[in-house]
Amino acid sequence: MTIIVTPLTKHFGAEISGVDLTNLSNEGFDVVRAAFEAHGVIVARGQLIDDDQQVAFSERFGPLETTVSVNPAVGTPFARQSNIDIATGETMKPDDKRIFYQKGNMLWHADSTFKEIPSLCSMLTAREVPPTGGDTEFASTRAVYEALDPATQARLDGCVVEHDFAWSRARSGFVFNDAQRAENPPARHPLVQTNPVTGRKSLMIGAHAKCIVGWNADESQTMLDDLLDRATAPNEIYVHKWQTGDTIVWDNRATLHRATPFDVTKHRRLMQRTTISNPAAIDEYAGYPEISQAG
Ligand SMILES: [Fe+2]
Repeated sequence: MTIIVTPLTKHFGAEISGVDLTNLSNEGFDVVRAAFEAHGVIVARGQLIDDDQQVAFSERFGPLETTVSVNPAVGTPFARQSNIDIATGETMKPDDKRIFYQKGNMLWHADSTFKEIPSLCSMLTAREVPPTGGDTEFASTRAVYEALDPATQARLDGCVVEHDFAWSRARSGFVFNDAQRAENPPARHPLVQTNPVTGRKSLMIGAHAKCIVGWNADESQTMLDDLLDRATAPNEIYVHKWQTGDTIVWDNRATLHRATPFDVTKHRRLMQRTTISNPAAIDEYAGYPEISQAG
């Protein structure tokens, strides 16, 4: 079987065809991994993957995160994105706090940027999809970095950005209690990320990015807003309309994503996400005193 990699947009994203992710040789995985590093978002359709197969495939990228206590799938390797009650199989009421919590996913973000050990990538599989709505939109922070003028690139290189989950969820109206806040203290990361395979640079920004450390608050907010606006301009993004069996792996170092609404009162949607951790990234943090001082 020949694996075909077809770009989805001018700057990022690719569809992979001729592949069965549940039965992939090491050589086949090397092709998939190289496409992931090169394109940031990889889409494979027609993959009927169960939970065990999803865990097995995800682990080929690296160690998995476990899910935080605010997600219904707490204690498992899955972050469940659904309006279906995990216990009863029935759809939840629109005012259910688990639906409300998921509204935070409608802000542009990368996963787990608020964690001390950042994420390499996430894998999302479509198990049940609504007939309309419930798309996922993607943007490239590599494209926006590469399009900046050299003076701005130089100004951002070496900067540290602080990400804060309690702060970002509060912005969408979900206020953490003390225990949730204690479980999710702010985390610091290099603003400019360098892909160790391709050498290409990207930005760790998005909803959880609270400030650029050491910058005046207004300047920091203006810069973060401007970078986000550039990355997510409507003609720069990729919109994925899900079909059951679609699988997407995205790079949390170089892309952003957000969910779009669907009618939770009429339709069922179940997506299973696994999140792959990137402990190797921490090795590079020694060169950033603002990170080690905070730790
Ligand atoms: Fe997400």
